[in-house]
Amino acid sequence: MKAKGRIKRREFLRTSGAAGVGGWLSGAALMRGFEAEAGAASTKPESLEQIMAQLDAISSQYPSAPKDEGRFLNLLVKATRARRVLELGTAHGYTTIWLALALEATGGSLTTIEILPERVELARKHMADAGLTARVNFKQGDAHEIVPTLTDPFEIAYLDADKGGQVDYFKKLLPRLLVPGGLLIAHNAILLADKMKDYLELVRHHPDFDTVILRAVEDDGMAVSYRHRKAA
Ligand SMILES: C[S@@+](CC[C@H](N)C(=O)[O-])C[C@H]1O[C@@H](n2cnc3c(N)ncnc32)[C@H](O)[C@@H]1O
Repeated sequence: MKAKGRIKRREFLRTSGAAGVGGWLSGAALMRGFEAEAGAASTKPESLEQIMAQLDAISSQYPSAPKDEGRFLNLLVKATRARRVLELGTAHGYTTIWLALALEATGGSLTTIEILPERVELARKHMADAGLTARVNFKQGDAHEIVPTLTDPFEIAYLDADKGGQVDYFKKLLPRLLVPGGLLIAHNAILLADKMKDYLELVRHHPDFDTVILRAVEDDGMAVSYRHRKAA
């Protein structure tokens, strides 16, 4: 069963990266494909493609990153071979799935923190549907309070909770919880740049970081900050 699941995931990543605008099928196109294949839409997801399509279908109800950004996060984890990843702001688990899929490839695990209990439950369900539960450690509560209680450092920290809290997260993650050579990735660095102005100033001018703002989709992107291996 596990091997079958892995093959399905690999096929999903390969095929979804090769089709549609910008390398992607839209959620609607995926659903049309599934319905045509299955004869009718199923309520119980039976494949990762269906789970992702279901997440796309409800994405307007939950704030979540677009597919290209999910795919980019997945690529970064695999390219850096990261095994310990932190996500702040789980929502319904869309980027959580993308991160967890990459961690299947690296053999790592994800800690994800969400303040709203109902979102944690929904994300747990999606992760179970995707067969990725073992890769994810869910924590429910205020990330500002939970982060200082974490013990082991991360190689990638993806900041996607309250945008006004980014400087506080930075101070709580550094220096103990992000390894030298690790990445801090802040979502909405273009669309919500005004809300995270202080954070962007901080990481752009910090002597221990190199930061680039990457435009990942038409109107938004991420601040990707690399922590130098040796302090300046
Ligand atoms: C933009 S959404 C996360 C989207 C998700 N990463 C994705 O793209 O699939 C932000 C989430 O952060 C949560 N959040 C906001 N403030 C928080 C806090 N202080 N601690 C933990 N979670 C928080 C919100 O409830 C919301 O679900």
